[in-house]
Amino acid sequence: MLWTKRKTLYTVLITVFILFLCILKLKGRANYYLKWPAGNSIVIYNRIPKTGSTTFTNAIAYDLYKENGFNVLHVNMTKNRQVMSLPDQYTFINNVTTWTDRLPAFYHGHVAFIDFQRFGVANPIYINIIREPLERLLSHYYFLRYGDNYRVGLKRSRAGNNETFDECYTRSGKDCDMKQMWIQIPYFCGHYHFCGEVGNPEALRMAKQNAMEKYLLVGTTSRMRDMIALLEVTVPNFFKGALQHFDSLDANRAHLRYTKKKIPPNDQTLSMIRRDEVYKMEREFYDFIRDLFDAIFKKATGGSSKAEDLVKMPLQYHFEKIKPL
Ligand SMILES: *[C@@H]1O[C@H](CO)[C@@H](O)[C@H](O)[C@H]1NC(C)=O
Ligand SMILES: *[C@@H]1O[C@H](CO)[C@@H](O)[C@H](O)[C@H]1NC(C)=O
Ligand SMILES: *[C@@H]1O[C@H](CO)[C@@H](O)[C@H](O)[C@H]1NC(C)=O
Repeated sequence: MLWTKRKTLYTVLITVFILFLCILKLKGRANYYLKWPAGNSIVIYNRIPKTGSTTFTNAIAYDLYKENGFNVLHVNMTKNRQVMSLPDQYTFINNVTTWTDRLPAFYHGHVAFIDFQRFGVANPIYINIIREPLERLLSHYYFLRYGDNYRVGLKRSRAGNNETFDECYTRSGKDCDMKQMWIQIPYFCGHYHFCGEVGNPEALRMAKQNAMEKYLLVGTTSRMRDMIALLEVTVPNFFKGALQHFDSLDANRAHLRYTKKKIPPNDQTLSMIRRDEVYKMEREFYDFIRDLFDAIFKKATGGSSKAEDLVKMPLQYHFEKIKPL
């Protein structure tokens, strides 16, 4: 008699406990999955220095995270290395995909493309912005010497050095060496050893392939506004309201960061650079991305070149003949 009573009590207790666990689990999940469809909750922007990335990151991530309800995290690479070892890639991917307290998340950092698929996981939404390679190099060159308006007090590594880009180029200096041009291709090529080999044609091929297959969108610095508009209509969970916000920034904030002084190279330097193999490859990559972006944008606006039309475009399809009724 007593024994049966106890047995019932235990059964009830255990059932209640299991039910409690189930409710806890469901509750945790429901919130997350309702608002953020699976596979759509991580954006990685592996930003490239001197392409307007600070402006872009602030305008679409740090200004919007509260309103749109996502987390923003900076990936700080030790000693400004651009690549991770394979074990570091594993822990990074494991962390990013399982850190539920920090989902949904926007990650940004100066790191080459990491392919999650190699570890048996789906890739997150990758985005990026690139800039005409010579413009980018000039910006970097003068930035090291004169700094920018963003972190004014910070002493830059070449502060006090007045050498112009032309002077540097004439004496074959290190800072203006065309090796310094090999940046955007390796960022997209990723973590293979040949990606960092200056002038490697396989790296260019891989960079193009990744840009097409693994990135949702790659924009250009000169069309940042168009990029923001496209993001708003392709990843609205993160970026709704982004265009309006960007337009509301005053001129100072929209060009948040600019190098204080830039001296354009003379015609002789220019013609030498244009004949350089490394420049030609980086330029080919840039042109390729620029054309891809332009085609996507034109198609999405229905031919108009106005970013604000994107948000108003009616759908070009509808569902019908739906069964069961
Ligand atoms: C990255 O971390 C290092 C070491 O903590 C720090 O000195 C550096 O300022 C950080 N970089 C950025 C861009 O915040
Ligand atoms: C991911 O890394 C952060 C910072 O190092 C740590 O606090 C967090 O617990 C990690 N999350 C997972 C799921 O590994
Ligand atoms: C560099 O610029 C500073 C200030 O503009 C000037 O005083 C200095 O003489 C210049 N140095 C050289 C080597 O031209």
